[in-house]
Amino acid sequence: MAGPSGFDVAKRDRFLGKVIGDLSGTFVTAMSVIGDRLGLFNALSSSGPVTAEEFAELAGIDRRYSEEWLAAMSHGGYLEYNSDVQQFWLPPEHVPALAEESGPYFVGGIHQQIPGLVGKLEPVMDAFRNGGGVSQSEYGSDHWEGLERLTASWYENLLIQEWIPSAAGVYSKLEQGADFADVGCGSGWALIKLAQAFPRSRFVGYDVYQPSIERARANAVSVGVGDRVTFKTFDVAPGIPERFDVISTFDVIHDLVDPVGTMRSIRRALKPGGSYLLLEMNCSDSLEENHGPIGAMMMGVSVLYCMTVSLADQGAGLGAYGMPPAKVEELGTEAGFSTIERLVDDNPFSALYELRS
Ligand SMILES: C[S@@+](CC[C@H](N)C(=O)[O-])C[C@H]1O[C@@H](n2cnc3c(N)ncnc32)[C@H](O)[C@@H]1O
Repeated sequence: MAGPSGFDVAKRDRFLGKVIGDLSGTFVTAMSVIGDRLGLFNALSSSGPVTAEEFAELAGIDRRYSEEWLAAMSHGGYLEYNSDVQQFWLPPEHVPALAEESGPYFVGGIHQQIPGLVGKLEPVMDAFRNGGGVSQSEYGSDHWEGLERLTASWYENLLIQEWIPSAAGVYSKLEQGADFADVGCGSGWALIKLAQAFPRSRFVGYDVYQPSIERARANAVSVGVGDRVTFKTFDVAPGIPERFDVISTFDVIHDLVDPVGTMRSIRRALKPGGSYLLLEMNCSDSLEENHGPIGAMMMGVSVLYCMTVSLADQGAGLGAYGMPPAKVEELGTEAGFSTIERLVDDNPFSALYELRS
C-alpha cells in the first residue's frame, strides 16, 4: 500500500523478496557448478535415493561437504528429501537439465561457463570505466569448454533434424554433395555432425581463434571424420578465399568486430544460388519485449563476453541481443543480400535466418 509520500511499502517488500530469490539462485547455481564439475548430478542420477553418508561414499567426496551440498540443493528445489529416512534424490524430471550431457535440455555447459565469465569481472569493470573490452584469448578453459558443451547439444539435437531441413533445397544439396563452410566454427561440432549426416559433401570451418581450431581438428579425428572436414585458422572479415554452396554462422555475428564486413565476405564467397544460414539470439527489436529471465541472463552474458570481446578490438559491440529481426534485415541488406527469411524461431534462445543474393 502507498504511504503518504507515495512510497509503496508492499512493493518494497515484494522487490526485496525478488532480490533474495535472485541471490539464492546465484548460490544454488554456484553449487550447481560444483555439482557439474565433480559429477555429483551424474552420481545422483544413477544412484536413486541416498543418505549424505552414502552419497559421500558413492561420489568420492568428503562427508561434511556431502551433507552441506545436498542440503543446499534440496533447499533450492533441485533435489527432493525424505526426512523419515534422511534420503535425498534427483527426481527424473530434473535429470535432463542437470545430468543428460548433449540432451536438448542440458544446461551443464552454461554452469561450466559461469566461473569463466564471472572471473572476468575486474577487467570488465575496468572497461566500464575506461572503455575497450576483454579479448577472447583472456577467457580460460571453463568458458571455452562450457560453450562447446552448450552448443554441441544444439548440433546434436537441432541442426540436422530442424535447421537444415528448414532451408528449402539445402538438405538435398548436401545429400547430393555440396561445399559447406561454417564461419566462427569454434570447436567444430556443427561441421562434424554435418559430415556424419552428409558423407558426399565437403566441409570447411574457419575460426580466428587458434586454440578452437586445434580443438575442432582433434574432435573431428576423435569421431572419424578428420579426413572430410578441414579446419582453418582464419579471419573471414576481409574475405574468404574459397567458394561454397552453403555458409553458416552459428551464434557468431553479434560477437564480431566487423559484422557487416563479415556478412559481405560471406555473400561474396557463395556460389550462384547459394544460401547463408545465420543463427542468432532469438530476441525482439523492442527492449521492453526482451524483459524477463532469459533477457536478463543474455544481457549478463553480453556484458561479460559478447559485447566486450568485440569492443576489445574497437569493434561494433553489438552484444548478445544486437541482432534482432530489424537489425538482421538492415545488416543483411547492407551486406548485399536481397532475400532474408526468418526460418525457425520456436526456440527461446535462437532464431535461424536464410539469406540469399
Ligand atoms: C560464440 S562463438 C561460437 C562458436 C561456434 N559457432 C559454436 O557454436 O560453438 C563465436 C566464434 O566466432 C569466432 N570469430 C570471431 N571473429 C572471427 C573472425 N573475424 N573470423 C573467424 N572467426 C571469428 C570466435 O573465435 C568464436 O569461436
